[in-house]
Amino acid sequence: MDGGKSYCKNRVAWYGANFLVKEKEIERIGNSFDDDACSFCDDFKKSGLVKSSKILLDELTALGIRGKKLLDLGCGVGSFSFKALERGVSSTTGFDLSPVMIGTASRLSEERGMKERASFRRDDAAKAALPESEIVVLDKSMCCYPNIDELLSNSSNASREYYSFILPRSDTKISSLIAKFIVSIGNLISRITSESRTYIHNLGKIDNVLTSSNFERVFRGTSGMWLILIYRRIP
Ligand SMILES: C[S@@+](CC[C@H](N)C(=O)[O-])C[C@H]1O[C@@H](n2cnc3c(N)ncnc32)[C@H](O)[C@@H]1O
Repeated sequence: MDGGKSYCKNRVAWYGANFLVKEKEIERIGNSFDDDACSFCDDFKKSGLVKSSKILLDELTALGIRGKKLLDLGCGVGSFSFKALERGVSSTTGFDLSPVMIGTASRLSEERGMKERASFRRDDAAKAALPESEIVVLDKSMCCYPNIDELLSNSSNASREYYSFILPRSDTKISSLIAKFIVSIGNLISRITSESRTYIHNLGKIDNVLTSSNFERVFRGTSGMWLILIYRRIP
């Protein structure tokens, strides 16, 4: 009996500790991206979208985004949202864990005269009540987040039509080895500097979750180390 009780206590303690570690990590994501907001903003003002994001936006445009709502999860300073508005999406809502990213995105939306159609919120895309939207985009944000199951489930439930994301390439043995090697060195440095970590999530598992939730893959592209994927909800 006593053995059973202490087993239960140990499990509760283990789950509790695990929960606290994850919460701490989520807090760390917001804090470390706060420091990047300025350079993200300068880069966007100077050069617009990076190539991988441009590929995603071009493909979504070709599939048809005009008049549709966009949900930009892990929106950073809102770069993807602003460019998608220029291409004709009706409105966009961005979520990010970093308050400074959200503050910068809100300021940029005013500067660009897009305030009425672009809103930005500081919240966790894996947990927040997300507004249903035709298009959901996670542009290089999945790889910052430890709990992919929760993020995938909450964000894909919000998609009425397209679900798209960009993450580090790990779709072949060689790219997976390279990504894991680079990320483990990066994470070692992050451990020392208390920055947030990068995660190489299992692509097969992501695909299984999406296909079993009635999505089909309609686009796969690459740009350097990035893999760009678009899924469509089967009507
Ligand atoms: C590498 S940045 C990319 C920002 C932007 N999408 C871009 O491409 O410029 C990743 C961003 O995702 C955010 N992020 C990661 N996980 C998130 C989550 N679960 N909810 C909201 N934001 C998240 C981080 O705070 C960070 O600003």
